[in-house]
Amino acid sequence: MSNAPTALSLDDVHVRFPVAADWRGRPNRYAHALNGVTLNVRKGETLGIVGESGCGKTTLANLLMGLVKPTRGCFDRGGASLQIVFQDPQSSLDPRLPVWKLIMEPVMVNRRSGSRALRAQAAVLAQQVGLRPEHLDRYPHEFSGGQRQRIAIARALSAEPDVIVLDEPTSALDISVQAQILNLLQELRAERLLSYVLISHNVSVVRHMCDRVAVMYLGQIVEIGAALDVFAAPAHPYTRLLLESVPRIGAPFLEGVPQDTELPGNRHLPQGCFFRSRCPLATAGCELPQAMAEAGDSVVGHKCRCHVRCKKEER
Ligand SMILES: Nc1ncnc2c1ncn2[C@@H]1O[C@H](COP(=O)(O)OP(=O)(O)O)[C@@H](O)[C@H]1O
Ligand code: SF4
Ligand SMILES: [Mg+2]
Repeated sequence: MSNAPTALSLDDVHVRFPVAADWRGRPNRYAHALNGVTLNVRKGETLGIVGESGCGKTTLANLLMGLVKPTRGCFDRGGASLQIVFQDPQSSLDPRLPVWKLIMEPVMVNRRSGSRALRAQAAVLAQQVGLRPEHLDRYPHEFSGGQRQRIAIARALSAEPDVIVLDEPTSALDISVQAQILNLLQELRAERLLSYVLISHNVSVVRHMCDRVAVMYLGQIVEIGAALDVFAAPAHPYTRLLLESVPRIGAPFLEGVPQDTELPGNRHLPQGCFFRSRCPLATAGCELPQAMAEAGDSVVGHKCRCHVRCKKEER
């Protein structure tokens, strides 16, 4: 997987949102949601994006989907086609459409079209995601959360994407249902050679699903590598804090972290290392901006953004 070709790439992507304006209506304050994200998504891989609430995960998802433009930097989607599955299937599925139309909507010219061929295609997709033929004419409110997420997955598949962005796909579901949906996603990926960008604040979901993982903090990637390497030997102090704060399966990431270490605001970005105000290892040199560099364990592709934890000769 480490030498698979690239499906998508981001180079130093910044995104900021205006949050206040002067008397002329010109923006004068911003939320700095992404602050220099450089990332490749490879063909056929599942790339996990983890980090606590507010670190920019959904902004990254929206950027990949073309719903948000980079303020700075470059996003190259190559020729890849992308689809997205949201956290909450309740609000992402139009309640007025029957299941078969919901599934085929991404490829329907208009919502009134009703060809037999489309319906037949919907039936095949429905079956592949574990829905039954009689479900096709029902409406979203008639389903459980897990079944609605199956509808959302079939809908994403109908456009035959290369990459599916999964933004917290199981966070709204009961634990028992979560595992079923994750297993379904694994099967579909293997059958269809899809790439997934799996966004989650839940470390056990990412550990279970991902080939590689990128850890985000305040709109930056602070660590990236093969999931096995990152989980076995987390390099960045923030990643260590995240992993230590997951005492049991299914627990949210930062449960148990003291309140005085909460995420600093993104209206005024910190000088130097963004993690400095919370970092137990902070020392001289941390007041300088940190670049991504090879992590100290010399594992290929394992990088982090911390001069204390990176190989010295990189600097
Ligand atoms: N449309 C928007 N307008 C203003 N601020 C936004 C907007 N979208 C996101 N943000 C801000 O950007 C930051 C990152 O948000 P988000 O990407 O939703 O994070 P996450 O998904 O990791 O919780 C937050 O501070 C959020 O308030
Ligand atoms: S650069 Fe310094 S403050 Fe930032 S994570 Fe490393 S040790 Fe901590
Ligand atoms: Mg989010």
